[in-house]
Amino acid sequence: MMPSLRARLLLWVLLPLAAFVFLTASQAYEAARETASLVQDNALLASARTIGEDVGWQDGVLVSDMPPAALEMFESPYGDRVFYKVATVDRLLGGSPDLPLPQRATGFPVFYDTTIDGEPIRAVAYQRHLYDSGRAYPVTVVVGKTEASREAMVRTLWRPQLIRQATMLALAVALVLIGLTKELRPLMKLKDDVADREPMELEPIRVAHLHSELRPIVDAINRCIARLKLHAARQRQFIADAAHQLRTPLTLLETQVQYACQREPVDPAVAEALSGIRRTSRNMIDMTNQLLLLAQVESDAPAAAQQPVDMAAVVSAALEELLAAALRRGIDLGAELGEGLLVAGNENLLGALVANLVDNAVRYTQEGGRVTAACRREDDTVILEVIDNGPGIPAENREHVFERFYRGRTDVEGTGLGLAIVRHIAQSHRGTVTLAPGPARVGLVATVRLPAWREADAAATAESEESA
Ligand SMILES: Nc1ncnc2c1ncn2[C@@H]1O[C@H](COP(=O)(O)OP(=O)(O)OP(=O)(O)O)[C@@H](O)[C@H]1O
Ligand SMILES: [Mg+2]
Repeated sequence: MMPSLRARLLLWVLLPLAAFVFLTASQAYEAARETASLVQDNALLASARTIGEDVGWQDGVLVSDMPPAALEMFESPYGDRVFYKVATVDRLLGGSPDLPLPQRATGFPVFYDTTIDGEPIRAVAYQRHLYDSGRAYPVTVVVGKTEASREAMVRTLWRPQLIRQATMLALAVALVLIGLTKELRPLMKLKDDVADREPMELEPIRVAHLHSELRPIVDAINRCIARLKLHAARQRQFIADAAHQLRTPLTLLETQVQYACQREPVDPAVAEALSGIRRTSRNMIDMTNQLLLLAQVESDAPAAAQQPVDMAAVVSAALEELLAAALRRGIDLGAELGEGLLVAGNENLLGALVANLVDNAVRYTQEGGRVTAACRREDDTVILEVIDNGPGIPAENREHVFERFYRGRTDVEGTGLGLAIVRHIAQSHRGTVTLAPGPARVGLVATVRLPAWREADAAATAESEESA
């Protein structure tokens, strides 16, 4: 995997900047060293000159009077040790005999690095000529000093620079990180928007305040979504056409079989075969309807047809449709409807949802049983419960029954698609469906929760109709 954009951009900024800081810091260090050397060397030379001034003749002999001021100028808090030496060609006039002279002296003064007692020192050798009866006597003055104060000076000159540069580097890192986090936010939001979409949501991505670099990506995604949408629309159209094409001959078949059954019974075997054909054709009609409904639900965008739908009316209509079947089986079918049962969605699909649940309850409950469809409002949720006192569904099967073509009982006719359709419709309306045992562990309660209609939905509907 590629390292994160943040890490890569940080490297792009940091590596050159760090190299630059390193380079300027080492240059600053050299400059500080040079300055410190210059200052210290000048002090050494001044001291050597002062000592040299005080060499003179006394009774025909050269003597050196060590002026205290000559070495006092080196007193420093760094505990430097100072050495000096005054010598003619053949005689030591004063100071430390151990102080080495420069190895090569081509012209005075000479600055050089040497050691004394193993300790590094910086020294200057300065020469002065004294005259006596026309002869010149060279006198060499050497002053040396340990390096502590020079190092301290380098540090004092260099450290503020280093601190400034390090602060700049830290600031650059912080700014890059903050800037990136802030600037990447629209991208992260875009990612969340795309990730949080419903599987069949085919609306274009709308992002306000998008960087110009991201705009083409969003446009490309939106073009892709538009193609998918077109494809989904074609598929929906195909399903609708197929439904129409299939239903017509099936209805015709049923009418023909019905007609044949009503004729004078001929042969009991033929009559039996006819009623078999009739049962099969009815199953085929049911199966076709359920299959087409499932295909429609699966290919539909969830936002399609977001109209206010009154669940009270939907439940009443579904019960009315199933009343005959309930009567046939001696089932007491009832409704309990509350107030404020508007939800946002598609009336036909919600009708199919209720019809499937009530149909199950009526179909699987024993004769003489009781089935109730109750709908009520709780805060922002409309809750529909279809309660029966039938055999219920064992806990281990309660998830499986939502699978397509899963059938619990084979003694009753069915296609095994009903609950798969119910769950799809509930989800496409941003709702849920759950199954649980009924009161006193008898029967089944199917509970559907749907978000209630809000004024905001009206605005969204108007907008989507405008854009469509
Ligand atoms: N109210 C209920 N009581 C007992 N069992 C139920 C009930 N509702 C569903 N079931 C069980 O769940 C299974 C799946 O139900 P589903 O509605 O998905 O399919 P179906 O009823 O068999 O076929 P379809 O509804 O497509 O005609 C059923 O076969 C049945 O065994
Ligand atoms: Mg069913």
